[in-house]
Amino acid sequence: MPEATFHFPADFRWGTATAAHQVEGNNTNNDWWVWEQEEGRIKEGHRSGRACNWWENAEADFDRAAELGQNAHRLSVEWSRIEPREGYFDDAALDRYRAMLRALRERGIEPMVTLHHFTNPLWLAEMGGWENPRAVFFFERYVARVVEALGEFCDLWCTVNEPNVYVYMGYLAGVFPPGKQDFGAGMRAGRHLMRAHAAAYRRIHALQPHARVGFAHNLRLFDPANPRSLLDRWVAGLQDRGYNEAFLAAPTRGRWLFPLGFGFAWRLRGTLDWIGLNYYTRDLVAFDRHRPQSLFGRNFHAPDAELLDGGYGEFYPDGMERSLKRLSYLGLPIYVTENGIPDADDDQRPRYLILHLHRLWRVLQGCVPIMGYYHWTLVDNFEWAEGWTLRFGLIELDPETGRRTYRPSAYLYRDICRANAITPEIIDGYAPELRLVLLP
Ligand code: FCB
Repeated sequence: MPEATFHFPADFRWGTATAAHQVEGNNTNNDWWVWEQEEGRIKEGHRSGRACNWWENAEADFDRAAELGQNAHRLSVEWSRIEPREGYFDDAALDRYRAMLRALRERGIEPMVTLHHFTNPLWLAEMGGWENPRAVFFFERYVARVVEALGEFCDLWCTVNEPNVYVYMGYLAGVFPPGKQDFGAGMRAGRHLMRAHAAAYRRIHALQPHARVGFAHNLRLFDPANPRSLLDRWVAGLQDRGYNEAFLAAPTRGRWLFPLGFGFAWRLRGTLDWIGLNYYTRDLVAFDRHRPQSLFGRNFHAPDAELLDGGYGEFYPDGMERSLKRLSYLGLPIYVTENGIPDADDDQRPRYLILHLHRLWRVLQGCVPIMGYYHWTLVDNFEWAEGWTLRFGLIELDPETGRRTYRPSAYLYRDICRANAITPEIIDGYAPELRLVLLP
């Protein structure tokens, strides 16, 4: 019997994903830069600093991505560079982004541009950030400028990255700016982000009718710790609704669901051409009446699970398959806009990559339109509140010197991208222990 080769569709997009603040360096005019200067905010007092130096030379890493066989890249543009003061747009910054997108195209890499990836210009933060309803208008105006300037090189737009993570980390856990623990304020900010998404969707289509517009949703699976316990099931369902369903229902069905809101969201209905999946891990949830702030759930990892570095979560490839199947009910094309693992010594990443892509392949067999996969990330970068302690790159970076070192996974991913398949040779070469698991 021939050994299985897992083929991907001929036009499948293979890429990596990044975000401006994590890679550009010297993004001094946004709320994250200020946050990094405050004591105790970032692990080990780390700062983004020069990051991966993309503002000066992203092109060197684009060369690496192209050599590694990638034909797509998801990057974000930094609002605080483009609109450094309210209403003032900086053409030089827009030109720099035009140069970056042109550079990607010249290397045969299709860009997907994210318009908001966690950071806000300082002027907006000072006006109350996303709690302020005017943020929706400001965002739409900024998006229009970006699309006018960059539309020649890009028609694949991601309006907002992970509005649920933004709300959770910034307003409930309080570990991202604005560092609040205020449920009401968080839900307000969440509604405004989703309204901003819809406003941007319409504006982009008015300017570029053939545009494909979506947003990236961080889908976390919440499984009841004890599936026979009614209370565990109830609380897992409640967290799922708050974290996942509420953010998906607004731009598809035009409904505000608890806790984001109530009633109809007519202007949001049907504002997705595609949906982005950021998949990392899952939680087990047990009912705990002492935890109203987490909707009465205690979240933890399965006791027997293989864990990721830094307590980041559980190694759970089946979650990729479950998340994709779940999103398939929306009836939209899907991009896996992020998936990756903190793994400085690269001892888990090869298996992680092969197994997650294998689960993605399985969902493709059911004719679910999955258009592409963007691995998080190309080069180690500034991992928000975790600073430089978590290393997600296919390529290792020494942030002091800028020196890059390829991890074995960079070559593994290259071989998959080039073959447009997971072949038995790839499995044997990088993760022979999977031979019995995947190959008959
Ligand atoms: C996601 C973020 C991304 C990166 C990865 C590890 O939630 O969108 O910027 O930090 O996690």
